[in-house]
Amino acid sequence: MTLFPDDFLWGAATAPYQIEGAWDEDGKGPSNWDWRAHHTTCIAGGATGDVAVDHYHRWREDVDLLRQLGLNAYRFGIAWARVQPDGRGAWNDTGLAFYDRLIDALGEAGITPLVTLCHYDIPQALVEQGGWINRDMTGWFAEYAAAMAARYGDRVRWWATLNEPVCIADGFVPAPDDPHDLAAVQHHLLLAHGRGVQAMRAVNPALKVGLVTCLWPAHAMLGAGKAAVIGKAGERLPCADGTGDGWGAFSPDDAAEAARQADAAINRAVLDPIFLGRYPREIRDAAVGRPIHDGDMAVIAARPDFMGINYYSRVVAAPTRRPDGGIGWRWVGPAERGAPHTTMGWEIYPEGLYDIIMTVHRDYGAPAILITENGMAHADTVDPDGRIRDPYRRDYLAAHIAQLGRALADGAKVRGYCCWSLLDNLEWDMGWGQRFGLIYVDDQTLRRTVKDSGWWYRDFLRRGPR
Ligand code: FCB
Repeated sequence: MTLFPDDFLWGAATAPYQIEGAWDEDGKGPSNWDWRAHHTTCIAGGATGDVAVDHYHRWREDVDLLRQLGLNAYRFGIAWARVQPDGRGAWNDTGLAFYDRLIDALGEAGITPLVTLCHYDIPQALVEQGGWINRDMTGWFAEYAAAMAARYGDRVRWWATLNEPVCIADGFVPAPDDPHDLAAVQHHLLLAHGRGVQAMRAVNPALKVGLVTCLWPAHAMLGAGKAAVIGKAGERLPCADGTGDGWGAFSPDDAAEAARQADAAINRAVLDPIFLGRYPREIRDAAVGRPIHDGDMAVIAARPDFMGINYYSRVVAAPTRRPDGGIGWRWVGPAERGAPHTTMGWEIYPEGLYDIIMTVHRDYGAPAILITENGMAHADTVDPDGRIRDPYRRDYLAAHIAQLGRALADGAKVRGYCCWSLLDNLEWDMGWGQRFGLIYVDDQTLRRTVKDSGWWYRDFLRRGPR
């Protein structure tokens, strides 16, 4: 018996700034990421998304590749500044028509579109009005969301408002130095999501609207190196090398507290407000509060139709001593622990996908779950025969899909899975070099070649996943 229903969405994902290019073509306005690339040194190697992987011009070929891979879903984003250059006021017909063509071509190929409205990029004109610090952003975003629902809602059923609000807040340009501004950004993002959901439902109640967030199960750790003590809930475990219990200056309670804080900052910061209508205690008790107006939390908790989960890894948190004497936490990377990891420095930890799905399913009662991103970066190389042999990526995907199957078997309502990414692309501030694609993109020619993992995914889907 197969665990995966026939209408399960099997896809791959991209984001506009990472692939489109054509940053100022056909009436597109500059975005915050164009500004970051052109006016700061934040992006490694001086890389920009000016051309990116030229999807704006090569989209037909990319849709054809999706078809060759046999995928029945494609998650992509709309670049707000392409369809509404200033983020308010006039719409750009040429930009709107680009996404019409893409959506229609997907429809003809039998590929279900999953569309993200804001995958980090916003029109720079809005940044100049304070961006997410400005509460008015939530209204501008809702208007944009409603317009997109009206334009494409006849062909696009699945919509994500924002991609990873926690990361948008971290990577906001210019990064808010003032903690009050940061708190405002964090709150306004969730409020924009809620207002976006309401606005889209008002346009078309048949749409499935959700939020995409990255979830990293948080585990506790004490000690260092391979002798580390790690437990899911900070429980006391024997050291790997038998050299004592490794608790050092901290207690098991401290370790559990460190993991709780990491979990609050990364996961519960989003899940609690969306599903429970309140921020976690750690955020409510923070020295700098969020600018919450009456009624905001109810808007944020406008129940989503699905939760989009980007899953890459877990976070292992070790306790630290804060200057005020309290417990803080630090992220202990896999290299420090001798654990397997990718070129991003992210541990390969497939079980975490099961854990986090079950958390969203059981603890929060999500009506549906989409895995909107999952994949690994590696320094892939092209063999002399032109093939890209990436068995590590095949193993990574297979191991994670197996965990997805476990979660389905245990009753989680998972409706789809998208690999990150369809194509090698620009990895934000890390620039070029983090190859995540099922499809290799040549740096110079931008020529696309399906990697072995891409063909494996096709064959796996052909066989009928189970
Ligand atoms: C996620 C982002 C995506 C990509 C992957 C590697 O956090 O949503 O755009 O950068 O990480």
